[in-house]
Amino acid sequence: MKCRPSQSHLSIYTALFSFLFASFLLTAALYETTEAGDTLTSQRVLLAAAKAPAKASKGFDWKKLGAQVYTNTCAACHQPNGQGVPNTFPPLKGNAVVLAKDPKDHIQSILKGVQGKKIGGVAYQTPMPPQANLSDEEIAAVVNHERTSWGNNAPTLTPEDVKKLRGK
Ligand code: HEC
Repeated sequence: MKCRPSQSHLSIYTALFSFLFASFLLTAALYETTEAGDTLTSQRVLLAAAKAPAKASKGFDWKKLGAQVYTNTCAACHQPNGQGVPNTFPPLKGNAVVLAKDPKDHIQSILKGVQGKKIGGVAYQTPMPPQANLSDEEIAAVVNHERTSWGNNAPTLTPEDVKKLRGK
């Protein structure tokens, strides 16, 4: 005898199918909610990161590169200990631009150089040459290095921050 679904079998199938479809819809709805929740959370995290840029450098591995760039490009003038040379090269340890929460001036001093600026009451005779040949990564790394060395403790940044200022 052939097995043909009877009327009652059919309604069980229909019920089962409706149940599965409903579950699917529910899962989809739940998934949407969670997604929205996640987006909200990541927006909060981003906001928090913007308020405390120290967290913004998460994922950007700058320590080794920063020390390297500093030694190769900056230490000749600002000295390995960041103290500079009195009346010739300004110290970066305790420097207001290096410690400023907003890294704009710190980044621009590297991209554009510094000339005729009185720093800590001292007028420097020689200008600082621009170092725009450094990549966004190298500049962000060396800025972070200066912001966290010799007792300095200022928020760090990412290559994106440098990219935004380049050419401005
Ligand atoms: C040839 C010497 C020289 C080199 C190399 C040099 N600097 Fe300078 N830097 C100076 C001088 C001189 C000044 C001050 C210029 C002035 O006030 O007119 C200065 C100023 C600065 C300032 C600004 C401080 C302020 O208060 O505005 C920062 C930040 C800085 N340098 C960072 C760096 C970094 C980072 C590097 C390496 C990528 C670097 N410097 C390489 C000589 C140098």
